[in-house]
Amino acid sequence: MKARRPLIAGNWKMNGFAIRGTQLAGALVGRVAEAPDLAAELLICPPATLIAPVGELLRGTPISLGGQDCHPAESGAHTGDISAEMLADLGCDYVIVGHSERRADHGESDELVRAKAEAAARAELVAIVCVGETAEQRDSGDALDVVRRQVRGSLPSGFTPDSVVVAYEPVWAIGTGKVARPEDVAEMHAAIRAQMGELADRGHQVRLLYGGSVKPDNAAGLLGLEDVDGALVGGASLNADDFWAIAKTCG
Ligand code: PGA
Repeated sequence: MKARRPLIAGNWKMNGFAIRGTQLAGALVGRVAEAPDLAAELLICPPATLIAPVGELLRGTPISLGGQDCHPAESGAHTGDISAEMLADLGCDYVIVGHSERRADHGESDELVRAKAEAAARAELVAIVCVGETAEQRDSGDALDVVRRQVRGSLPSGFTPDSVVVAYEPVWAIGTGKVARPEDVAEMHAAIRAQMGELADRGHQVRLLYGGSVKPDNAAGLLGLEDVDGALVGGASLNADDFWAIAKTCG
């Protein structure tokens, strides 16, 4: 039995059109209805276009709904952006901020990620703050320092275990099929846990997820680690059987 309830979060990224997306969410709703004692909390983060219809399907079920990004401001002249308040308005409980694909594609800095996490708190959403090193940084022995710097720069001040989740996602493991070694994940999560305890009163109780090529066949080895409180799942979350198998790993 884990100290914290595991969170299995599906990050659909820019995938899913209306029919396929609602079918996928519907399939998961059906699975959950048949497994009321599921140990893990499930979360679906669809693309923005599907938040409303997927939210309709999830209403009244134990599956949570989340966005993949938010703007720091509540509203205003920011074409194409979505605020944390808008996500909350659609029934979201969570929002992913600082995913490495956004850090890379949109040049997001730790400072911006922190502003987004603060916006999430303002809208009473839980921010899933993503951190992780590149292959070069790991190879040069800098992984721990890089991730510690991201954690320090990206976490909002005054965070609590109810307002944030941290997802450790080595960039080189995302979407590549290369999964981090359990001993490296254990080392990194222990370091993040210790740092979180230094940054906030109850910081050591914040849930820490692992992400990066989590699949049904490697989930048990990762989710069984002491400091791993769940997973952020990309590719495998697009298949109901795979996502469900990963969730069931937690019991
Ligand atoms: P992946 O993506 O599971 O496809 O590696 C994880 C993520 O980017 O959150």
